[in-house]
Amino acid sequence: MTATLINGKEFAADVRAQVATHVARIKEENDITPGLAVVLVGEDPASQVYVRSKHKMTVEVGMNSFEHKLPEDTSEADVLAIVEQLNNDPAVNGILVQLPLPKHIDENLVINAINPAKDVDGFHISNVGLLGTGQKSMVPCTPLGCLMLLRDHHGTLSGLNAVVVGRSNIVGKPIAQLLLNDSCTVTIAHSRTKDLEDVVRGADIVVAAVGRSEMIKGDWLKKGATVIDVGINRIPAPEKGEGKTRLVGDVDFASASEVAGAITPVPGGVGPMTIACLLANTLTATCRSNGLAEPVGLTAS
Ligand code: GUN
Repeated sequence: MTATLINGKEFAADVRAQVATHVARIKEENDITPGLAVVLVGEDPASQVYVRSKHKMTVEVGMNSFEHKLPEDTSEADVLAIVEQLNNDPAVNGILVQLPLPKHIDENLVINAINPAKDVDGFHISNVGLLGTGQKSMVPCTPLGCLMLLRDHHGTLSGLNAVVVGRSNIVGKPIAQLLLNDSCTVTIAHSRTKDLEDVVRGADIVVAAVGRSEMIKGDWLKKGATVIDVGINRIPAPEKGEGKTRLVGDVDFASASEVAGAITPVPGGVGPMTIACLLANTLTATCRSNGLAEPVGLTAS
């Protein structure tokens, strides 16, 4: 392997430590304790793991964590009522409704019912619009984490060719906006892009968020490119024993790490940045709503 490893696990721990320091300061100086409310509807096992992890880390940085775990058959009206209650609760600075929601609930309706100032996921249409027009907004957590890793590695991103593979509302579209706001030349490619390999070959920065195991190969990359792998895919690992699995990204790490200049591993790359940025966003939301200075280096601005 010749690429530099971008250690998201370490970086995320540092972000959480910065958040904790800032939280301790506003508690001491302003008597404010940031609060994050998480709403989980149903029993999706992956969501339950995320929510447990979010709760633990929220408490670890000194914030209040409010959990609302609701049964799978909760009505849309009841979810909207909880969101409204959290919107009106002064102890709650951030609201996260865990996705996916059960099929009978309209996700967009619920997301857009969240007070945009408390929308720590940055999924509300008003935050999406603010980001798209280069204005101050709440920024989705995983894209913010990718941006922090890239800024840390490159210093400035200005003028670099960035190819984002994937066009989801949660990752692909917002990371493209963030990179554009940082003066990259941005291409959004996806699974239907013609000559995808050639498009990727033009990139100084590749952000892989397409949800296909090990799709992007080393020989698709420009020598020295920076590769940010957002994919988290579980694949069979018979070498570990019958029925065993392992996590891989959207990038074929073995071949890519021989060509890239820098690369995030899976696990331990982008993954840990998501919750760290959720906590950073909760702190940012708390500061903005109380007229306090925003945490430096923990936002997209
Ligand atoms: N489910 C998977 N990722 C996310 C995320 O970033 N936010 C929310 N709310 N749900 C998710």
